Amino acid sequence: MENKKLDITGNEENLDKALRALEVYRESAKKVVENIYNSPEIKAFQKAIQAIRDSKSLEDIRVSVLGKKGTITEMMKNLGSLSVEEKKEMGKNLNILKSEVEKVLEEQKSVLEESELDAKLIEERIDVTLPVRPENQGRIHPVSKIYEEVVAIFGQMGFSVAEGPDIEEDFYNFTALNIPANHPARQMHDTFYLPKEKDGGKEIDDSYVIRTHTSPVQIRTMEKGQPPIRIIAPGRTYRSDYDATHTPMFHQVEGLVIDKNITMAHLKGCLYDFVKAFFELDEIPVRYRPSFFPFTEPSAEMDIGCLKTKNEIKIGGGDDWLEILGCGMVHPNVLRAGGIDPDEYQGFAFGVGMDRLAMLKYGIPDLRTFFESDVRWLKNYGFAPLDESSMTGGLSNNGGITR
Ligand code: DAH
Repeated sequence: MENKKLDITGNEENLDKALRALEVYRESAKKVVENIYNSPEIKAFQKAIQAIRDSKSLEDIRVSVLGKKGTITEMMKNLGSLSVEEKKEMGKNLNILKSEVEKVLEEQKSVLEESELDAKLIEERIDVTLPVRPENQGRIHPVSKIYEEVVAIFGQMGFSVAEGPDIEEDFYNFTALNIPANHPARQMHDTFYLPKEKDGGKEIDDSYVIRTHTSPVQIRTMEKGQPPIRIIAPGRTYRSDYDATHTPMFHQVEGLVIDKNITMAHLKGCLYDFVKAFFELDEIPVRYRPSFFPFTEPSAEMDIGCLKTKNEIKIGGGDDWLEILGCGMVHPNVLRAGGIDPDEYQGFAFGVGMDRLAMLKYGIPDLRTFFESDVRWLKNYGFAPLDESSMTGGLSNNGGITR
């Protein structure tokens, strides 16, 4: 029987020892071996195998001994050339030898697997005491922040939030708000009209716009039920306009209060409380200028006192005035359009630009940047997601009106 030449790198010494042990055994297997389990050959083989430290070398040895052309396999193949008696004796011995060798290899294999796993676990251990890596945290958009603040303030005054569609019927956006077709007030709104609907080629009367203000929610709310009504309607509004203080899409919040005996004094008290709470100031000068809106009579614009310097507007002091919102007593025609008897009920309404509030409160100079989706901008002007606005826990959580 030819001794197999092996090409195994690493562990050569141990491998040599193991094979030498087997070789000796091969010779002795020819003789009758009484107790193979305790034979010094197997013990020597075992010792050599136990010294092997990596599974790759172990597998190479297994192949060289038990593989197709392995030492023991070859010995088995050569049994054919022996006499019947010798074959019987040798066959038996070889089978015992084979299973002993397999056992030794198996044992070492599981030892190695275990220690390799241990090593891997140590190497890949996670140190939970290390500081966390800085993660990019999302920020709350200033408009969302203002939305939360406005809802928190009016929520505490007992208002609930009402909603209406962005794509609005001409009737709700204009007609029901006392702005009849061809009324010049329609030109105050640079309206986006939607293509007229056609019914079998014939134009139908109802036309749609994307709402130019949140005021149509007044009518939709009145239609839903009789007073008392106390709602705010924050939402998106659209006008064809674009400069540093105007964008085609912007945000407003509408307010509507209707009940018996509602007067302008209620309007003034409510809005005064609102601006103080919103700008987080104990005192703030306000004034009302007469104005015109088709849906209110009388109508007014509310200004707040401020100090305008070159780079900053400081709210709450100084000799300057800043227009902040439109308001008035709900026009009888509007109450009628909403199905409410103006002889029984009165109310006040107001409309505020929420983006404008954000610009003033947080000192953001250009409205267009609000909607450019630039994360650097958001990182600078945005708010921490967990700083919720509330009247008790703090509104803006940055405690100031200018940066
Ligand atoms: N809808 C008006 C606008 O967009 C704002 C407004 C003014 C709303 C007076 C009101 C109001 O409810 O009473 O310009």
